Amino acid sequence: MANRPWIYYGVLSFGLAVLQFLFVFALASTSNVHIVYMGKRQHGEPELVSELHHDILSHILGSKTAAKESILYSYKHGFSGFAAVLTHSQATLIAEFPGVVNVIPNSIFSVHTTRSWDFLQVNPCIADGILAKSRSGSGTIIGVMDTGIWPESKSFIDDFMEKPPSHWRGICQEGQQFNLSHCNRKIIGARWYYKGYKAEIGKLNPRDGVEFLSPRDAAGHGTHTSSTAAGVPVGNASFMGLARGFARGGAPSAWLAIYKVCWSTGGCSAADLLAAFDDAIFDGVNLLSVSLGSPPPLASYVDDVLSIGSFHAVDKGISVVCSAGNSGPFPQTVINTAPWVLTVAASTIDRAFPTVLTLGNNQTLVGQALFTRMDLDKFYPLVYGEDIASLDADQTSAGSCDSHTLNDTLARGKVVLCFQSRSQRSAVVASRTVLSVKGVGVIFAESPSKDVSSSWNLPYVQVDFTIGSTILTYMETTRNPVVKFSRTRTTLGQEISPEVAFFSSRGPSSISPSVLKPDIAAPGVNILASWSPAASSLELDASGRKFPLQFKLESGTSMACPHVTAVVALLRSIHPNWSPAAIKSALITTASLEDQYNQNVVAEGAPYKQADPFDYGGGHVDPNKAISPGLIFDVGTSDYVQFLCSMGYNNTAISLVAGSSIKCRSKSTKFLVNLNLPSISIPDLKQRLTVTRTVTNVGPVNSFYTARVQAPARVSVTVSPPVLVFNSTVKKQKFKVSFCTFIRTQGRYSFGNLFWEDGFHVVKVPLVVRTVIQDFYSET
Ligand SMILES: *[C@@H]1O[C@H](CO)[C@@H](O)[C@H](O)[C@H]1NC(C)=O
Ligand SMILES: *[C@@H]1O[C@H](CO)[C@@H](O)[C@H](O)[C@H]1NC(C)=O
Ligand SMILES: *[C@@H]1O[C@H](CO)[C@@H](O)[C@H](O)[C@H]1NC(C)=O
Ligand SMILES: *[C@@H]1O[C@H](CO)[C@@H](O)[C@H](O)[C@H]1NC(C)=O
Ligand SMILES: *[C@@H]1O[C@H](CO)[C@@H](O)[C@H](O)[C@H]1NC(C)=O
Ligand SMILES: *[C@@H]1O[C@H](CO)[C@@H](O)[C@H](O)[C@H]1NC(C)=O
Repeated sequence: MANRPWIYYGVLSFGLAVLQFLFVFALASTSNVHIVYMGKRQHGEPELVSELHHDILSHILGSKTAAKESILYSYKHGFSGFAAVLTHSQATLIAEFPGVVNVIPNSIFSVHTTRSWDFLQVNPCIADGILAKSRSGSGTIIGVMDTGIWPESKSFIDDFMEKPPSHWRGICQEGQQFNLSHCNRKIIGARWYYKGYKAEIGKLNPRDGVEFLSPRDAAGHGTHTSSTAAGVPVGNASFMGLARGFARGGAPSAWLAIYKVCWSTGGCSAADLLAAFDDAIFDGVNLLSVSLGSPPPLASYVDDVLSIGSFHAVDKGISVVCSAGNSGPFPQTVINTAPWVLTVAASTIDRAFPTVLTLGNNQTLVGQALFTRMDLDKFYPLVYGEDIASLDADQTSAGSCDSHTLNDTLARGKVVLCFQSRSQRSAVVASRTVLSVKGVGVIFAESPSKDVSSSWNLPYVQVDFTIGSTILTYMETTRNPVVKFSRTRTTLGQEISPEVAFFSSRGPSSISPSVLKPDIAAPGVNILASWSPAASSLELDASGRKFPLQFKLESGTSMACPHVTAVVALLRSIHPNWSPAAIKSALITTASLEDQYNQNVVAEGAPYKQADPFDYGGGHVDPNKAISPGLIFDVGTSDYVQFLCSMGYNNTAISLVAGSSIKCRSKSTKFLVNLNLPSISIPDLKQRLTVTRTVTNVGPVNSFYTARVQAPARVSVTVSPPVLVFNSTVKKQKFKVSFCTFIRTQGRYSFGNLFWEDGFHVVKVPLVVRTVIQDFYSET
């Protein structure tokens, strides 16, 4: 059982972040939802499985009626189990029942245009590009687990879509403001999951207009991710005039199946999420896009429903793409790290939103903003947040414009300069504070980052600390400092890109550092995509009217995830027989390490340093290269089971995840590094270690590859054999990589690459090694 009954899951973008926090606390005391997990289903008939669940519950609860009232879901397609409202002692009793593998207390998850597709060279005008070759992803069904969908968005018009395939078993589940007519040949399925959420958090009150008990999206997040993955092109799309152009999804001919598991008030229940996995597997999706997660500490792979649900999906050939989290740039913050999922980091694109500030001395400075609505052509008085702190504000946060720190008499009618601080990092909080004291604008100085927050009600410009200090110096040298904002412009191609986004969570994985995470980076900063007009009802324009947004710029690994989802959909249309592991391998080994000037990609956050695999895994996704990777590293279900054995989980727990009875042959940790991943990560090299990998040739039948190594610092690397020859009978080849170090210090991670090259393909395998001293502690 999980030690932490309250894992908080949330969507991984910033818009909802503040609301979600409130819910973490609301949850802790009320839950009694438990997930009773029974492994692979034992009967062919789903109805019999369901009956069995009721029987077990009746036995414990004393009556059939009580069982009926308590059960929320019967999971019967991909695996057997159910979710029910139980007391702790009832849960303990059920855990003893024959056939019950585990009882998991429920937990709460949370969620995570379109220049980005041109930036990635996913463009219909490229003759032999990935869109042409995949027929824009036709034939592939993308399941999206998120906050639902706004079906009227132009991104989901089905004019050129084919009918759903005959094997499709999904449904269009009706509910508030959502009926059968809201599904079409683009949205071929839509379901919603509310029982777990309701049982724990309590009923949503849909009458307040912020939620619909149906697949309809009240938050915007799910509409954004769905349209990024598979929206059809919409011309003249913009965010209040910014970023104007075609908004399009990466796989515009793919079908969408919507699984609404997260709610606009914040959070997604684990019981609901597992039910959605169960249905999606039954319905017949080809891949799943899951832009949500729960922050560290990470639950073990045998207790985390996202890891369990995705294991079953991958076992059935369904790729699962997840967001890496928004807790960067700090190390060991990456989430969703199971080796069978694709974990996506966020990167910047070459679009920017420069906004010129003019000071009273005519000095001009450039910041970034997403504000277009007010007449700005006028100087406003400028004050520093710390100088107008209210008397009871604490010293450290007044300058950062933390909530309730500003004196409203002194702020009224002025532009306030705020500096990000340790305790107050959020530009959004600063702008709310200034708005609440009737300020007219904000300049927020922060660590350099290209992630710009949008603002409706007041101009709000982000600058780096250098520019912030320049402004402060000006203010100190003049009696009546003033500032004028120019209108924000949209520029293309003028930013060095990609860079790994400041907020993107970093590796290594805190639970399994031998599995390199994140896997790959994709655009996730200032992405324009469809939005839910209902979500923006919370936003008022300058004159206090509701402002229904059709499109919105958003940032987060939530936005990066559907980019990779779309690329997986395109690859799947081209290579329908490739396993999820093969597709993942193709993406990682072909990912790019360079920006548009062929310089190494840089990571925001760790100041201007070259990005490393903990920032972006294999690198930045390169869709056209991934079509033809040359060699792939394949992994099957039995390999993942061996991995779980080496993680030290017991047979019972592993049987639970695998859905069948498992007896580990060996629990030796040496298998951890031998999982056949397209990367090698050794967290504890003690002197010498040899790692094995197997590659499968998917390129020309007669191929000849040679190894080239960029060794990590202080480590020598040898590859054996150094050449691999493939022909019509030899399709797979094994090789060994030996690592050796003579260091006698407790090391830090260093990075390198192994390349297999045939003159056309470059199969890049990231190498990550940390040296450790044997018996470090006993020697000191
Ligand atoms: C197996 O592991 C699970 C979860 O890690 C734990 O709850 C259970 O008690 C263990 N069972 C045995 C027989 O050790
Ligand atoms: C479905 O809802 C739409 C409005 O949202 C309405 O026009 C239509 O008549 C409804 N269809 C059915 C079958 O109820
Ligand atoms: C694009 O949309 C804007 C409103 O957002 C409108 O004013 C403009 O006329 C439209 N342009 C075209 C070419 O449709
Ligand atoms: C700023 O520029 C304007 C117009 O160019 C000029 O009239 C004004 O005197 C300048 N102010 C300062 C302080 O240099
Ligand atoms: C705000 O500033 C005014 C003017 O300096 C002062 O009179 C008032 O006490 C301050 N209010 C608070 C709450 O600090
Ligand atoms: C392929 O290579 C293997 C090993 O080099 C060799 O034994 C085999 O005869 C080759 N097959 C063909 C069809 O050339």
